[in-house]
Amino acid sequence: MSEIVIQKSPALCGNIICQGSKNAALPILAATILTEGKNTIKNLPRLTDTENMFEILAALGGVLNINVNTAEIDFTNCNSHFASYELMSKFRGSFFLASPLLSRMKRARISMPGGCPIGNRPIDLHLKGFAAMGAEIEKGHGYVDLYCEKLKGAKIYLDFPSVGATENLIMAAVLAEGETIIENAAAEPEITDLANFLIKQGAKIHGAGSDTIKIYGVKQLEPVTYSIISDRIEAGTFMSAFAITGGKGKIENVNPVHLKPVTAKLTEMGADIDVHRNYISIDASRHLFSANIKTLPFPGFPTDMQAQFSALLCETDGTGIIVETVFENRFLHIGELNRMGANIRIDGRSSFIEGNKRLSGAKVSAMDLRGGASLVLAGLCAEGETRISGVHHIKRGYENLCGKLRSVGANIFLE
Ligand code: EPZ
Repeated sequence: MSEIVIQKSPALCGNIICQGSKNAALPILAATILTEGKNTIKNLPRLTDTENMFEILAALGGVLNINVNTAEIDFTNCNSHFASYELMSKFRGSFFLASPLLSRMKRARISMPGGCPIGNRPIDLHLKGFAAMGAEIEKGHGYVDLYCEKLKGAKIYLDFPSVGATENLIMAAVLAEGETIIENAAAEPEITDLANFLIKQGAKIHGAGSDTIKIYGVKQLEPVTYSIISDRIEAGTFMSAFAITGGKGKIENVNPVHLKPVTAKLTEMGADIDVHRNYISIDASRHLFSANIKTLPFPGFPTDMQAQFSALLCETDGTGIIVETVFENRFLHIGELNRMGANIRIDGRSSFIEGNKRLSGAKVSAMDLRGGASLVLAGLCAEGETRISGVHHIKRGYENLCGKLRSVGANIFLE
């Protein structure tokens, strides 16, 4: 099994170009099922998750032509309302197929997305919305079966601003009969990107990026060429890498508005950050001091940056407190960081992180995507060698983490 091997690295210095957003790519790729024709999607990251999605779309009848970070996807024909369990169970993003298949095929069979290390990942809010729009729902044998001759607009209140439920319900509503209103909707940039893709195809969507989204069903969507937004979490991970090594550099091809909570927190911790139209520069050469963080739905501090900051706060002055409010089990990286000499105590959804630790390299295991990223960050500043197993978790969300970090001076290799 491959491992990431890291030696203590100097202050990182240089420029890094950010990849396309994994969490924008997955729903947009699924949404291509809604169009009888060829869409061209640009700035796609090449990740395990996106490769899995390509495989599922092809299995459903899509004709795909993938060229580096661009995918031409022709869904003139959609041959099936379900993909195999083997394909669907590989990642949570497959549940984004529920609404496009239900809308196009009048039925969908989706494997229940397994839980994952960060929580049990329920789908009750997705199903509540589908039922409100007239779908019949059956669960059994590890599958959810959805049926509906024609989805009808409905007013849906989400008990929690779920990103996936918001995205699934937008995709269900764009070709439904009448008006759909999603209240307490999630406002993440990836939702706005999905809406912009659908609007370019002719959908009528208002309020994406706010907590109330109104969609007026149309008869059909037209295929388009669309470039997805950059990955704010990859960008935030690199900002954290410059910060934890006391380095300075530029992250290019980003929308600084999407990174406001991360930029604000690093500034509060003493980093000098300049934001420009499509890049952010960071100078963390002054020693940073700790901070307290509470993860929240956008525009709050992103839960997907919690693990990375858990590592960063081991190196800053003072004790930091991180409260994880979004997922119930997103501290799996803490045990591994403590094996590297960190002193982090967990109490329920709060972690108490002692700073100024001299981390030491160790053999550690990545147990989820962002937890793996936090171990990479810790390895950059730990004395000696760090070997990280579970690399497949990291490959789900980072197109070339080791290569990009090496380009700015990190001693890191994939073995
Ligand atoms: C998306 O997951 C992202 N994944 C996650 O990124 C991200 O952490 C999460 O949104 C929150 O921002 C993709 O976009 C592919 P949620 P999703 O539905 O849609 C509860 C990464 O590292 N909930 O907003 O699954 C749920 O249990 C990944 O890139 C329900 O209770 O997240 C959780 O506590 C990790 N019922 C909370 O909402 C539901 O029906 C947030 O989940 C759905 C969700």
